[in-house]
Amino acid sequence: MRKILIIDAHPDSESLGAFLCKKYEENARQNHDVEKIVIRDLSFDPVLHFGYRVAQDLEPDLLQAQKKIKACEHLVLFTPNWWGSLPALAKGFFERIFIRGFSHRFNPEKKIAEKLLNGKTASVIYTQSSPKFYTKFIIGDAFWKCLTKSILGYVGFSNLKRYYISKAKSIDPQRMKKILYDLEKMGKDGF
Ligand SMILES: Cc1cc2nc3c(=O)[nH]c(=O)nc-3n(C[C@H](O)[C@H](O)[C@H](O)COP(=O)(O)O)c2cc1C
Repeated sequence: MRKILIIDAHPDSESLGAFLCKKYEENARQNHDVEKIVIRDLSFDPVLHFGYRVAQDLEPDLLQAQKKIKACEHLVLFTPNWWGSLPALAKGFFERIFIRGFSHRFNPEKKIAEKLLNGKTASVIYTQSSPKFYTKFIIGDAFWKCLTKSILGYVGFSNLKRYYISKAKSIDPQRMKKILYDLEKMGKDGF
């Protein structure tokens, strides 16, 4: 049994991503200790107005989200690929909560950023309209690099895995059956 935190990062509750997230959750709850954050349901300002220059008080929902992140062993992020990155609301969520002292800190002697969320793993389950070869080889895998090198990897998450659904606007019943089968397995295994 793993302590899993599911994050639904899609702004639209009726999206494919939100639907897949629920399917994963149903299965994960059978075998694991599961917490969930639905970013679109939180009450918070997604704009980090002053960067790190002026501290911005965290809303109660963000403090709660930080606690859930701190407590999890494995994070599972469901998101669409929008412009090679996260939807703005989700990007804002991470900008607000991944702040110095929580997710990383600057070591002035070594002049490097130290990761504070070490020891946790993560999976990213995402949808995109492009085929895989296009985002991987023409776009240079920007989405995955952003998540692994700059966001989750930067603050200490390791063993980052992905499951991504390309050509998400044209899924025939047979492919959907396979996706749901995979999600059931991933949920039960705590992927
Ligand atoms: C604002 C916006 C930006 C998008 N950017 C990309 C992109 O960079 N690459 C891509 O393959 N698809 C892109 N898409 C398509 C979405 O990834 C796709 O519609 C979505 O993953 C489908 O899943 P959903 O029904 O859960 O939204 C974009 C869609 C929107 C609305």
